[in-house]
Amino acid sequence: MALSGKRILLIISGGIAAYKSLDLIRRLRERGASVRPVMTSGAQEFVTPLAVGALAADHVFTDLFSRQDEQDVGHIRLARDCDLVLIAPATADLLAKMANGLADDLASTVLLATDRPVLAAPAMNPRMWAHPATRRNVATLAADGIRMIGPMAGEMAESREAGVGRMAEPLEIVAAAEALLDDGPKPLAGRKAVVTSGPTHEPIDPVRYIANRSSGRQGHAIAAALAKLGADVTLVSGPVTIPDPAGVKTIHVERAEEMRDAVLAALPADIAVMVAAVADWRVASAADQKIKKHPGESIPTLALTENPDILKTVGHHTMRPKIVVGFAAETQDVESNAKTKLERKGADMIVANDVSPATGIMGGTRNSVKLISRAGIDQWPDMAKEDVAEKLAALIAERLRQG
Ligand code: C5P
Repeated sequence: MALSGKRILLIISGGIAAYKSLDLIRRLRERGASVRPVMTSGAQEFVTPLAVGALAADHVFTDLFSRQDEQDVGHIRLARDCDLVLIAPATADLLAKMANGLADDLASTVLLATDRPVLAAPAMNPRMWAHPATRRNVATLAADGIRMIGPMAGEMAESREAGVGRMAEPLEIVAAAEALLDDGPKPLAGRKAVVTSGPTHEPIDPVRYIANRSSGRQGHAIAAALAKLGADVTLVSGPVTIPDPAGVKTIHVERAEEMRDAVLAALPADIAVMVAAVADWRVASAADQKIKKHPGESIPTLALTENPDILKTVGHHTMRPKIVVGFAAETQDVESNAKTKLERKGADMIVANDVSPATGIMGGTRNSVKLISRAGIDQWPDMAKEDVAEKLAALIAERLRQG
């Protein structure tokens, strides 16, 4: 409901991802927001003001020096008469202008004049995103309080190139806008949380690794839900293809040992929710060079060694958070395994789910869980992973409130 009645100033800059902005306008309006579009001249090369204006049901602002627009609204009012300034797509050029305070067209002028929250959805070629100049600009903008959603890894629309640079999907942008505008109760304000999510990748050699099917959806949703309730959240994520949740400090790692180090660095915290599907084993000594296949030679065997148990480490730590929650992905004896786990890992709650392939839970969007604590077992109905996350976050807030 966060978007209902909210006025969004949508700045569309010139990238091929502008085609997705048409759908974004619809999704925002479906949720009750009004959308006032500003288009750069570059944007108009990709989508027409006619299409944008029709979907937004508003005038499209394109020109800083339009006498009519200045008389009717004016660029300063345009910058202030909204609840959120959303830039989608945000090109490398527009980010560079913002980082340097340039104001040579309507979009950049509005961005310099606004006192409203700004959320940018960058989209550009992966090399442009990786360029040191863009890295600098993004860091400057983050320090200036500009929020970002994406860009994502994947194939680019305009070329066969793949990499990080694709604009987040409209619904992901909508979720980020909702999180930013949410003005609900904040029972976790002042609390710190650390959440792990996704799989780990344990290298075999520089190109191969051991992984699992975890998507990170449940862990990311929990990080977002805790942040929504006001917690200061650090999310330690293994390799995933979903965006960093808005308003959450996300640290990207690959291996279990890196994940443990990042989690321990985030302590002290009030809450720890360890959702990641951490590999139990890693290759004892990963090869420095790609292991070659030589005809006639024997097939290599992999010697494994145990990975650190992050949940157990946190559950028994001298800086143990007040609430420690673990997950139990089991395919059999879900309840009895989870109960043993509660003790062994030093957790307060275990969220147990049956990840047998038939359930479609791992990698899917829904979850059917049992909550196991010392108070007993509670079976939750089948629901979206976001709903599991909100219910769990509310429960954590309630437990902290009771002390
Ligand atoms: O022992 P098992 O892997 O079933 O336990 C699952 C729980 O423990 C999850 O919360 C998972 O995030 C956590 N875990 C961990 N480090 C490991 C293995 C599991 O934090 N090495």
